[in-house]
Amino acid sequence: MYAIIGGSGLAQLSALTDFRRQAVATAYGEPSAPLVFGKLGGHELVFLARHGAGHHLPPHRINYRANIDALRQAGVHGILALATVGGITARFGPGTLAVPEQLIDYTHGRAATFYDGGDAPVVHVDFTQPYTPALRARLLAAAQTCGEAIVDGGVYACAQGPRLETAAEIERFARDGADLVGMTGMPEAALAREAGLPYATLAVVVNHAAGRGDSRDGIRSDDLQAVMEATVARAVRVLTQAVAQEAP
Ligand code: HPA
Repeated sequence: MYAIIGGSGLAQLSALTDFRRQAVATAYGEPSAPLVFGKLGGHELVFLARHGAGHHLPPHRINYRANIDALRQAGVHGILALATVGGITARFGPGTLAVPEQLIDYTHGRAATFYDGGDAPVVHVDFTQPYTPALRARLLAAAQTCGEAIVDGGVYACAQGPRLETAAEIERFARDGADLVGMTGMPEAALAREAGLPYATLAVVVNHAAGRGDSRDGIRSDDLQAVMEATVARAVRVLTQAVAQEAP
């Protein structure tokens, strides 16, 4: 059974059938929302709304540890994470779907590890490849099956938010090698790795990042809605296929 973590633009998965909500308690507190168990295209699935059912949690207030621990308790064997992002480099214009291969973490002050003191010995997990290659391959194959164009690769920069970035911050991310910018990819990916759960991100580009393209003079959130809705709908098709697909 896979888990889908839905981000902005996907607070609920209307294609889910036979579903039931289940509140889960964890040693780290409450997840963003009850887990929703159901079937997607006939396959068992768990859905979690990252920002809460009413999109009330800003990125730095999300209890990432509780979210990942709840999914671990549910026994999922992999997490497909949807992320809406800004595009920094030319390949990643608005409307692009991408499966990033690397990330850079610019966040601070978030509870970012399960190894936070206590009796258990610290484990320094390997994070060379932050996204699980087999799950990335599954998303890419699913997109191909659906006939959806998708970019294989890219570096995801995780910004602190909730404000959008300055043009100079985006310039810096670009110099660092980043292609995409979002606010919630970390510590989610690292916690999944610590929990031993395969994890991959399907990124939905909804705007040019600050200072780039038509965001040269600013980003008007009102303008993002239409691109977001259309692109998230395509992403859901890819996710549905990925859940149904035989290996990879
Ligand atoms: N920056 C950070 N996060 C985002 C953006 C952005 O431009 N667009 C969507 N999520």
